[in-house]
Amino acid sequence: MAEKSKILIIGGTGYIGKFIVEASAKSGHPTFALVRESTVSDPAKAKLIDGFKRSGVTLLHGDLNDHGSLVKSIKQVDVVISTVGATLILDQAKIIAAIKEAGNVKRFFPSEFGNDVDRVHAVEPTQTTYMKKVKIRRAIEAEGIPYTYVSSNYFAGYFLPNLGQLELSAPPRDKVIIPGDGNPKAIINDEHDIGTFTIKTVDDPRSLNKILYIKPPKNIYSFNELVSLWEKKIGKTLERIYVPEDAVLKQIQESPVPFNDIHGINHSVFVKGGQTNFKIEPSFGVEASELYPDVKYTTVEEYLDQFV
Ligand SMILES: NC(=O)c1ccc[n+]([C@@H]2O[C@H](COP(=O)([O-])OP(=O)(O)OC[C@H]3O[C@@H](n4cnc5c(N)ncnc54)[C@H](OP(=O)(O)O)[C@@H]3O)[C@@H](O)[C@H]2O)c1
Repeated sequence: MAEKSKILIIGGTGYIGKFIVEASAKSGHPTFALVRESTVSDPAKAKLIDGFKRSGVTLLHGDLNDHGSLVKSIKQVDVVISTVGATLILDQAKIIAAIKEAGNVKRFFPSEFGNDVDRVHAVEPTQTTYMKKVKIRRAIEAEGIPYTYVSSNYFAGYFLPNLGQLELSAPPRDKVIIPGDGNPKAIINDEHDIGTFTIKTVDDPRSLNKILYIKPPKNIYSFNELVSLWEKKIGKTLERIYVPEDAVLKQIQESPVPFNDIHGINHSVFVKGGQTNFKIEPSFGVEASELYPDVKYTTVEEYLDQFV
């Protein structure tokens, strides 16, 4: 059997990054995490860093803004996965430059982990957010760097704990506010599964230079269907308050940062159906649960049980 690729994660101490690091280490890939020295000594990150060490992850000190550290780290691995945060998307041009200089990378996964930015449509300011990821895609392609873009759709932990009710810390039990008519379908995935599918595909030629969509059949729901599922679990009917699209657009324009962007993302997903209103064509994409039917992913239905 071919040796497993060595994987470097840049942004491994972040929200989704830690799940990717965990999945990589668990799967037996030699796993490296680029971490800033200030983070290694940050008491708030101590538990996470200790966990990495216990899982056999090699910590490499470095910084996105330190070209030498990037090149040195990248030279030690085969695959680079970036999970830097939304404010650093364009800074990934520095990773692209380092990958070019290092010259040994078999595949690069830029920080995507959301909607397919080449197909989703949004209003401002969200369109600008999406366009940054598009710009990085085009730069990777122009440089001829082998890639996979992971379109993981909605993180479960970002949506299900309050069913998209931003002011709540638990799913609603009396009324629920639904953008639009609640009928377009969205896709919501557990972060552990996003990590598992991402790592599964690292050495898989079927996802080379493709978008890996994480769209497992049991995690595709409209807002209305999610509410019905939750109602069934708690044995109660909620009052459904529908917000017409023009009011959603007004809310996006009037909300402060970052709520404008969150409402903008929800508009593109739940009003426009941006996660499901196109067909995955073999020319540009593959679907994760079809490629890896052996992965027992957590379903939305199972995930919601913890809140009942
Ligand atoms: N689908 C969804 O529902 C959803 C939700 C949220 C985010 N996302 C997407 O997921 C991706 C990752 O976002 P996230 O929220 O997980 O990120 P995050 O939590 O903000 O993590 C950012 C990571 O980048 C690291 N970092 C920051 N500055 C750095 C520097 N100068 N050099 C090296 N590393 C640096 C941070 O390290 P430190 O620990 O040192 O700060 C941290 O590990 C983004 O593309 C975002 O758009 C998707």
